[in-house]
Amino acid sequence: MKKINEEKKSKKNLIEIIILIILSIGLIIGFFLTYRNYKNNYEYKFELSIKELKVKLNEEIDPEKYIKTQKNVDVKYNIITTHTIGKRYLTYRVLDKFNRVHYYYIDVYVVDDVAPTIEGKDKVTLYVDSKIDLKSYVKVSDNLDKDLEIKTEGEVDTSKEGVYKVKYTTSDKSGNTAEHTIEFTVKKKEVYVAPPVENGTVGTTSKGYKIENKGGATYINGILIASKTYNLSSTYGNGLTSATKSAFNELNSAAEADGFSFRIGSGYRSYNSQKSIYNGYVKRDGQTKADTYSARPGHSEHQSGLAIDICSNHYKERKYCIGSAFNNTPDAKWLSDNAYKYGFILRYPSGKTSETGYKYESWHFRYVGKELAATLYNVGDWITLESYLGITSKYSE
Ligand code: DAL
Ligand code: ZN
Repeated sequence: MKKINEEKKSKKNLIEIIILIILSIGLIIGFFLTYRNYKNNYEYKFELSIKELKVKLNEEIDPEKYIKTQKNVDVKYNIITTHTIGKRYLTYRVLDKFNRVHYYYIDVYVVDDVAPTIEGKDKVTLYVDSKIDLKSYVKVSDNLDKDLEIKTEGEVDTSKEGVYKVKYTTSDKSGNTAEHTIEFTVKKKEVYVAPPVENGTVGTTSKGYKIENKGGATYINGILIASKTYNLSSTYGNGLTSATKSAFNELNSAAEADGFSFRIGSGYRSYNSQKSIYNGYVKRDGQTKADTYSARPGHSEHQSGLAIDICSNHYKERKYCIGSAFNNTPDAKWLSDNAYKYGFILRYPSGKTSETGYKYESWHFRYVGKELAATLYNVGDWITLESYLGITSKYSE
């Protein structure tokens, strides 16, 4: 009896266990199905319409624009700067309903689409044998890059006449390019021939002084002017004028009394000797530079017989005679302080290049007579003939 009862009991237990198992499985399946359903409802979707993007410098980017599909997500994105060129990542941080984070990227290339510029003349004329720095004929600039490299294609052979084309190219770091071509014409050096000086009154200066031409020279308010604007005829002149010579002798006697001693390093120069001096400098330094310190034939004051380059006898080295080494010597100072007393002016003072057309020459003195020299001395702040008379010193070509 007891045994039968026990058998019944264990059968009942088994059934209970089976039921429990079935119920548990059902519950699990139920959970699973509910979860799947739930998950399906919350399934996220996110798609971008592009993988990479090219934008211009400083262009604004709207990240929203590139979202193609967006479902069950919160999206955040970074703001990227576009004021420098280069590669950036536009990152979308996508958060689904299960708080899972997904990242999506667009490669953004910030590019500079502004091309550099090359500026220069289209045509350049040079003389045979002149020095040439090809790159100095163009200027490049760019919105971003400094010191862009200039490449040249073609050469100019200044040793012989001809027409030469040079192509200049440059490119910025973003690959934008620019080009410019210059046609160089190399001509035989013609010595600049001063136009003839006609006799007669030609006009008045900006300060109202009369300009007259007489005997191959220009006189303004009665003062002979030889400058870049006013030339002498090629036959003008025959040595230093006697007034210039005696004024120098007077000056030198006074200088010797003060312990100085001078000589004339260069006095009268004919049209032809100026021509060879000037052409020599053009050959050495190129015409543009030569024009800053040497007069073209017909334009030198030395041809007038009124100008002298003064050298000190106290310096044996050549550089002190007609050269910038003389500028800061006590001898140059004595001359600048005293020359006016003998009728000389410092013709090309320091800082007055824009008026005289020439660099400072501490040695070049021009005889104008004591009265005018005293006026132009101006307590050491020399007034130039150009400013005094209201004239220019510029070549017409
Ligand atoms: N050195 C001066 C400007 C001349 O050549 O006359
Ligand atoms: Zn001189």
